[in-house]
Amino acid sequence: MEKKVTVIGAGNVGATTAQRLAEKELCDVVLIDIADGLAQGKALDLAEAAPIEKHDAGLVGATSYETSAGSDIVIITAGIPRKPGMSRDDLLKTNMNIMKTVTAEAAARSPEAVLIIVSNPLDAMCHVAMETSGFPKNRVMGMAGVLDSARFRTFIAAELNVSVENTHAFVLGGHGDTMVPLPRLSTVAGIPITQLLTEDRIAALVERTRTGGAEIVGLLKTGSAFYAPASAAVEMAEAILKDKKKILPCAVYLEGEYGIRDLFVGVPVKLGRNGIEEIIEIKLTDAESAALRKSADAVKTLVVDMKKLASV
Ligand code: NAI
Ligand code: 2OP
Repeated sequence: MEKKVTVIGAGNVGATTAQRLAEKELCDVVLIDIADGLAQGKALDLAEAAPIEKHDAGLVGATSYETSAGSDIVIITAGIPRKPGMSRDDLLKTNMNIMKTVTAEAAARSPEAVLIIVSNPLDAMCHVAMETSGFPKNRVMGMAGVLDSARFRTFIAAELNVSVENTHAFVLGGHGDTMVPLPRLSTVAGIPITQLLTEDRIAALVERTRTGGAEIVGLLKTGSAFYAPASAAVEMAEAILKDKKKILPCAVYLEGEYGIRDLFVGVPVKLGRNGIEEIIEIKLTDAESAALRKSADAVKTLVVDMKKLASV
């Protein structure tokens, strides 16, 4: 293939991301994991499915980063999900250290790549990736808004018994309880859902979207969502690889946009060959602005916590 994407972390999200990238024939895929044999085994298994799935994407697995050299995109899914008994600080500290290591290795070999961060806590991990790589802000972004919007779209479609393809949804803010779904700008065939659903029903769908990740964890019990997260990461990668100029909600570094400074927060952006090609600023109501500020404050708390942990 003309393009190459490295996926770091061959767990649930990483392996599914590799599968979707290959089956859409978007690029060759290098899958990397610290666990010896895991990435190699999954890449080989996926490669052996290629004759049946009818694609010619190359798939290679590794524990080291040599084969990742010259990647157009690096998608980072390495990290641990939260387990019972773990504090947020435990997750933050562990994943922060993993993020530093893998970003340094990948960035050194693919200095022109776009980084798509998936590992949690998402917005905080984007800060680590940007600081460690030294990449410009247009080439570091986090996946969350596409997933959160897809969840909102799924619930809207089910509620109204319409095709998911008719739905559009916007979710702003950090990837957490304070995320800001915007019903006013969420539509079915161009019609705002505020004209199709009662306030109570909208509030219920918004709440289900906010807790969508926890709903899956509660059902799976041993891990978190991965099919939809992988689809979301691949939609972002496809927009970049094909220079589509597609507008998607992504976690990006804001420098005054939406009144937020020096923080990664989810907002709509235009994705193309150069990564983030434009940050789209939409006019928010006072209530929406206040909710976005609250969400940004939650991200800031995590970033401050991370700095404290780093200095211990
Ligand atoms: P998983 O546990 O299935 O896979 C994680 C993989 O990372 C494991 O295979 C592990 O060996 C690998 N890993 C750990 N340290 C590494 C290192 N230093 N170098 C290379 N690989 C390393 O977890 P899953 O379900 O794939 O989730 C991965 C991360 O993505 C978690 O932090 C999770 O919370 C996050 N996530 C974020 C979403 C979002 O919307 N941003 C959605 C879903 C998951
Ligand atoms: C999710 O929203 C765990 O962040 C992950 O499913």
